[in-house]
Amino acid sequence: MDNKVIIFDTTLRDGEQALNASLSVHEKLQIAQAIERLGVDIMEVGFPVSSPGDFESVQQIARTVKNSRVCALARAVEADIQACADALKPAEAFRIHTFISTSDVHVQQKLRKEFSDIEAMAVHAVKFARRFTDDVEFSCEDAGRTPIDNLCRMVEQAIKAGATTVNIPDTVGYTVPTEFGGIISQLFNRVPNIDQAVISVHCHNDLGLAVANSIAAVQVGVRQIECTVNGIGERAGNCSLEEVAMILKTRENLLGLHTGIQHQEIARTSKLVSHLCNMPVQLNKAIVGGNAFSHSSGIHQDGMLKASNTYEIMTPESVGISKTKLNLTSRSGRHVIKHRMASLGYQDSDYDLEQLYADFLALADKKGQVFDDDLEALLFNIQQQDMQ
Ligand code: KIV
Ligand code: ZN
Repeated sequence: MDNKVIIFDTTLRDGEQALNASLSVHEKLQIAQAIERLGVDIMEVGFPVSSPGDFESVQQIARTVKNSRVCALARAVEADIQACADALKPAEAFRIHTFISTSDVHVQQKLRKEFSDIEAMAVHAVKFARRFTDDVEFSCEDAGRTPIDNLCRMVEQAIKAGATTVNIPDTVGYTVPTEFGGIISQLFNRVPNIDQAVISVHCHNDLGLAVANSIAAVQVGVRQIECTVNGIGERAGNCSLEEVAMILKTRENLLGLHTGIQHQEIARTSKLVSHLCNMPVQLNKAIVGGNAFSHSSGIHQDGMLKASNTYEIMTPESVGISKTKLNLTSRSGRHVIKHRMASLGYQDSDYDLEQLYADFLALADKKGQVFDDDLEALLFNIQQQDMQ
């Protein structure tokens, strides 16, 4: 089996649909180009039937993006699929992604249909989409809560109808990793034609498990992960692209898998998405949070000054952040003060470390974080007192 995990980015579809205000066509293009530079294999960029604006942005992105395959979403109905085909036509390579719910609650309560009707609609949709492209993805919406016999039937039928990728979404983020990995394993064991399609997962983060569930899935044979930059998406969001990419890179020896992601592009893509989507990234967010590469306690700072792998499992440079930050707080020790003074251009003989450290601690107790300017102001104060 191929060890490459295909990265399918849905920032501009599942991510964008959850924003308070829609992005303009120009903003979507900016994000699409950043995602292309990031090296994603496929980007899902909209739901063309939903509005003329969405149609236009899919069309513009299809015209512009060359190095990632462009994809758009359609319900399992002809009008949606036709709109995808029309909007995606200018692309060099495109995918149509069609979906229908398969869980009992969705089939009975939302769609008010029988499962056999759903099966027929899915098969028809996949066959119809294949008239426009040989790259068709089919998703079983709410697969995480679908009875396994029905899920197996649906996956088998979709592949038979011509789906080249079959996606297993945990639409409401309900499963836990061993359970989700088990569902995927059952599909691999029970669906006779499963090796004729790429199996994909699309996990939501309602219980904070989207990334863990996606990793559990690739460990049992899934080869496409659907995700978004900064994990933006419906409710608690989607699986975060940067977390998945850095897990597969940092733990490549354990997992034996890789992606085509250009990791150094992660930080600036994250900032662009956060800015244009007006969605601040939490400080302690893995990989792209403001504190992801900053160290506050004296013990950690001392370790970092001796060897960076004492408290960092990847370098900030590897995700495009210029350097590790050692925060100056009341937990910082003399070692980090000395180091910071040297980086500001001072020699050991320029100041009395004990006196500077005592003043620094007094200020840190009052202020929390002490910045470089504060440190220099403390030094100037000491120098002035000495002159009096
Ligand atoms: O969460 C979901 O099930 C989806 C599908 C349309 C893939 O977004
Ligand atoms: Zn989704």
